[in-house]
Amino acid sequence: MGYDIAIDGPAGAGKSTIAKKIAEKKNMIYVDTGAMYRAMALFMLREKVNLKDTAEIAEKCKDAEITIKYEDGVQCVFLNGENVNGLIRTEEVSEAASKTSAVPEVRKKLVSLQQELALMQDVVMDGRDIGTKVLPNANLKIYLTASSWVRARRRYDEFLAKGESADLEEIEKEIRERDHRDMTREESPLKQAEDAILVDTSDMTVDEVVDRIIGLIK
Ligand code: DC
Repeated sequence: MGYDIAIDGPAGAGKSTIAKKIAEKKNMIYVDTGAMYRAMALFMLREKVNLKDTAEIAEKCKDAEITIKYEDGVQCVFLNGENVNGLIRTEEVSEAASKTSAVPEVRKKLVSLQQELALMQDVVMDGRDIGTKVLPNANLKIYLTASSWVRARRRYDEFLAKGESADLEEIEKEIRERDHRDMTREESPLKQAEDAILVDTSDMTVDEVVDRIIGLIK
């Protein structure tokens, strides 16, 4: 019997940082499902699909083959055979992913892929619907969150660290908008699973969060 951990929560709560560390410590595979939705969004942008046209997105997504491979322990997402890891972390792709991930056909395709990955190995999977939909029987479910201000502040600091300028208020506004879209969409909205444990990271360091979750692993 395998052991799977589901980590859900809004953008900027620290899911990927935390999930990666837990996977490393526990010798599990980290699966970043957001990267798959981002690769799909990149495909739609390249194909110049109208992001308001749900039917067009549903049709087009049939032409996008998304696959995952691990190179030196790092997850690489491939779009029709091309490694797109370096192209999916832009604001444009974030916005597009939030829109295209609301389309049922997109979700169906990527959820199957995620479930297949979890069948093959013990995973720490992060996303929005992992505990509610993708891995309803996960051994441990965490709902990771932080206030929108703290999440905006973290993103702002990341921009500064890269030597880029940023507008903190603008970032918080975008985070709130994305939260709203992710939480109110009809198909698999972001919400805490009934059996998930809430961890608010607003006043916690990364190591504190990792220790807390590792302490919950039975
Ligand atoms: O976690 P992220 O920021 O990389 O996710 C990008 C977008 O994909 C985000 O708007 C929500 C969506 N997403 C989703 O709908 N379901 C998931 N399991 C993961 C991400």
